[in-house]
Amino acid sequence: MTTLRTDTPRAKPVHAMQPSGREIPGNRTFTFFREFFRSPRLLGTCFPCSKQVAAAMTDGIGLETAMSVAEFGPGTGAITPSILERINPDAVYFAIERNDVMAAAFRARFPQVTLHEDDARNIRTIMRGEGVEKLDIIVSALPWLIFPEEVREPMLTEAVAALKPGGIFSQITYFADSLPAAKKFRRLMERHFSEIRAVRRVWRNLPPAFVYHCVK
Ligand SMILES: C[S@@+](CC[C@H](N)C(=O)[O-])C[C@H]1O[C@@H](n2cnc3c(N)ncnc32)[C@H](O)[C@@H]1O
Repeated sequence: MTTLRTDTPRAKPVHAMQPSGREIPGNRTFTFFREFFRSPRLLGTCFPCSKQVAAAMTDGIGLETAMSVAEFGPGTGAITPSILERINPDAVYFAIERNDVMAAAFRARFPQVTLHEDDARNIRTIMRGEGVEKLDIIVSALPWLIFPEEVREPMLTEAVAALKPGGIFSQITYFADSLPAAKKFRRLMERHFSEIRAVRRVWRNLPPAFVYHCVK
């Protein structure tokens, strides 16, 4: 069942967004850290990702020509500036964040970006509200490895269904193939996508990360 909020304004094309220089009150890393202890199963890590991870997630995925982009689990917005730097000004871009404190921090930092305080599993309902038929790109920092299996597969199925053929799913993970859960998630991605086009290792992150670029 969806929790789609009817008071969330529709996403504007990027060129119509008002740029914002406002920083969120308090320290972003502290907000992240505190929320990790409040709901570890939602965040999966106690640190926001690094600029190097944000670049690895957003370089070479076609943001410059995309028309529709969604960000899953933006948290306090560690990847968002890299998306905004690269994205086609005519694209529609919105984010989906489930944690209320993270959502408030994100809105304070990026008031120009439409954020749906919702579950990414509801992506297709959210797209209908946005008038978006299919997405070119999903940039996701969702903590898939800690999702229960009964959540993981249906959620990935929804994400894939939301993408156009040839659409890109850019995902961060922390334990490439070293943990059973990571191996299972990789196999799940292999089953759901036609190709895993790139796997990038990023050492400059806490913990070191892997970024997958998957093609529908
Ligand atoms: C690891 S944090 C990543 C935050 C940020 N993008 C970064 O890289 O620093 C994962 C984020 O996903 C959000 N999240 C977890 N499950 C979600 C879901 N089902 N739908 C939307 N957001 C979710 C969490 O609240 C958290 O903000």
